[in-house]
Amino acid sequence: MRTEICERLGIEFPIFAFTHCRDVAAAVSNAGGLGVLGAVGFTAEQLEVELAWLDEHVNGVYGVDLVIPSKYEGQGIDDLTPEQLEAKLGELVPQGHRDFAEKILTDHGVPRLPEEEHHNQLLGWTATTVAPQIEVILKHPKAKLVANALGTPPADVIEQIQGSGRLIGALCGSVKHALNHKAAGLDFVVCQGTEGGGHCGEISSMVLWPQVIDAIGDMPMLAAGGIGDGRQVAAAMAMGAAGAWTGSLWLTVEEANVPPAQMQTYIDASSHDTVRSRSWTGKPCRMLRNDWTDAWESTETPDPLPMPLQMMVALDGVKRGHRYPEAAKDVNFNPVGQVVGMMTKVERSADVVARLITEYVEACDRLNKLNG
Ligand SMILES: Cc1cc2nc3c(=O)[nH]c(=O)nc-3n(C[C@H](O)[C@H](O)[C@H](O)COP(=O)(O)O)c2cc1C
Repeated sequence: MRTEICERLGIEFPIFAFTHCRDVAAAVSNAGGLGVLGAVGFTAEQLEVELAWLDEHVNGVYGVDLVIPSKYEGQGIDDLTPEQLEAKLGELVPQGHRDFAEKILTDHGVPRLPEEEHHNQLLGWTATTVAPQIEVILKHPKAKLVANALGTPPADVIEQIQGSGRLIGALCGSVKHALNHKAAGLDFVVCQGTEGGGHCGEISSMVLWPQVIDAIGDMPMLAAGGIGDGRQVAAAMAMGAAGAWTGSLWLTVEEANVPPAQMQTYIDASSHDTVRSRSWTGKPCRMLRNDWTDAWESTETPDPLPMPLQMMVALDGVKRGHRYPEAAKDVNFNPVGQVVGMMTKVERSADVVARLITEYVEACDRLNKLNG
């Protein structure tokens, strides 16, 4: 199962784990896969702390995931500092949207954050705010892989990352986007079907993966969206994927920094409980349906704003949900894919990696027996 991308990264298994939690990323890398830390929620200073910690706790290498969308409000404004950009974009957010978001949280009894916990409204999400994050990544040699969500990264970013000897790839939810990534000279594509957690397109993994593999030829494709056990890893590899890129699975592992009440919500959810909604980030994102997502669907309420303005409205809700998960039970941001229905117990990250490999081998054996 050791594919070429494993050789290039020096990892044992082509199991990639997207996570916002450094403990999970370290555990997966140390179990032979590759932990990929999502950077969108961190300032450059916080990212430096996280990567320094990973350097100390990861034996081999790890990855970092950025969010530079190919389209967003404020794009092309590149002469401002992150703080100035935040202030400028803040002026574009209608007060009615802020009031509506506040009303949903207040009606559900979600307390406000203490004064000292006030935070930026704009974190990753723009080329301006990601630039300092890239500077940080380049200082950490074990950060061997960079992935970008929501579009092909700008040419100067590709050059910077590849020039430093790292691999850079990007997520895609369509053949067109995969071809754009290939034309830009990326090293790999992560192809995510609609069932995946977080931002996603409309086509299912079973239909999209083989089309993207055929379209991009010898460029490695990491299959994402709906992988919860080793049978699905085997299906992806049988189609020609170079590895399995997973996200939802790592929300219910022992090491995850998901508050217990929120983790229980994931454990209790079925595959019917997710929805693609623009209500948190401004772009279609798969998450658990709840009172927050329903509130933004109604024709009588404001429409979600484009990225990153909706996140500037909603980030306070994300932070309050993280701090007060019990109170925010029905209005929390719970990004997860349809595979949530297979996530029925809390496991150690290393055990999940081992399980995926064992189940993969069993699936291959089953096929081999069929072939006599
Ligand atoms: C909680 C959560 C947050 C995510 N955030 C990001 C992100 O910031 N950047 C990114 O490239 N992908 C993000 N994703 C998508 C994952 O990288 C991955 O492609 C996806 O989870 C795969 O589908 P699965 O959820 O069925 O495993 C996120 C997924 C989840 C579940």
